[in-house]
Amino acid sequence: MGRDHLLIFSGTAHPNLAKNICKYLGIEQGNVYIGRFPDQEVDIKVESDVRGADVFVVQPTCTPVNEHLMELLALIDCLRRASANRITAVIPYYGYARKDRKDAGRVPITAKLVANLLVTAGADRVLTVDLHADQIQGFFDIPLDHLLAGTIFIPYFQELNLPDLVVVSPDVGSIKQARAYAKRLKGDLAVVDKRRESPEKVGSLILIGDVKDKNVILVDDMISTGSSIVEASKFLKENGAKDIYICATHPVLCGQAIEKLKNAPVQRIVVSDSIPIPRKEELPNLEVISLAWYLGEAIRRIHNSDSVSYLFEYT
Ligand code: R5P
Repeated sequence: MGRDHLLIFSGTAHPNLAKNICKYLGIEQGNVYIGRFPDQEVDIKVESDVRGADVFVVQPTCTPVNEHLMELLALIDCLRRASANRITAVIPYYGYARKDRKDAGRVPITAKLVANLLVTAGADRVLTVDLHADQIQGFFDIPLDHLLAGTIFIPYFQELNLPDLVVVSPDVGSIKQARAYAKRLKGDLAVVDKRRESPEKVGSLILIGDVKDKNVILVDDMISTGSSIVEASKFLKENGAKDIYICATHPVLCGQAIEKLKNAPVQRIVVSDSIPIPRKEELPNLEVISLAWYLGEAIRRIHNSDSVSYLFEYT
């Protein structure tokens, strides 16, 4: 094997996505043993030769978040000590991202803490998709490539060619993303101004814009408990919306999310495979669009030192 050869490893969070990335790239996945010691500490042994290699580790930090995060850190440490030339953490879903500032006294900034941990472990670069907040990029003092999932979602909706379209942001945080979709899909833009009562409960909603007799695409970065998107869908229906399509990058789907989505007044729920989805079959209107080619192409470009931003020219 020559110097700087490309190698992909996977943690246990999403082996299927890693497999499909390798398939796109036409390469074999690196071999690694990942287990647990009797006391549940992470046990890892990289079995492929990585000396001098350009290594990419695929691991979304989805639930169980702490397990997956620790695995990722240990795997990076292991690769660094095994003399990999460069290590890129491929984190399609970056967990712990919601705490990106001190919004109250005596709270942590976990998005920054995780960035520090990754760099300390030995990551040289990060490749991720739709961070909860753009500014998290700046928490890393190493290069970070931030892919925008619009690249896989917009062609999907262009194909549907929905008439009388309005793209709706379910809160002010997703306006930038919704505006980019509206521009490319030639639709109008509306915003639901959401006030949260607690992490699980949405409070009052105000609509800025018009959805009456329009088809709606509700765009968000993630569906966690489902409260935001489901409450927003009901609210849009009350305001006269026609068909509602949910488009969310990260299907975190925790708590009662599946139950809530089952009863939501929506035509289709479109998500990416940044996270594996348990109980997928319970949502017949769920459409999963794969990030595999997109991540694979970004990896190929990073490896060859080609432009990555070329991939998301839609913004
Ligand atoms: C909010 O800032 C995010 O963009 C999502 O809307 C939110 O995290 C989703 O959470 P949930 O599904 O629990 O309402």
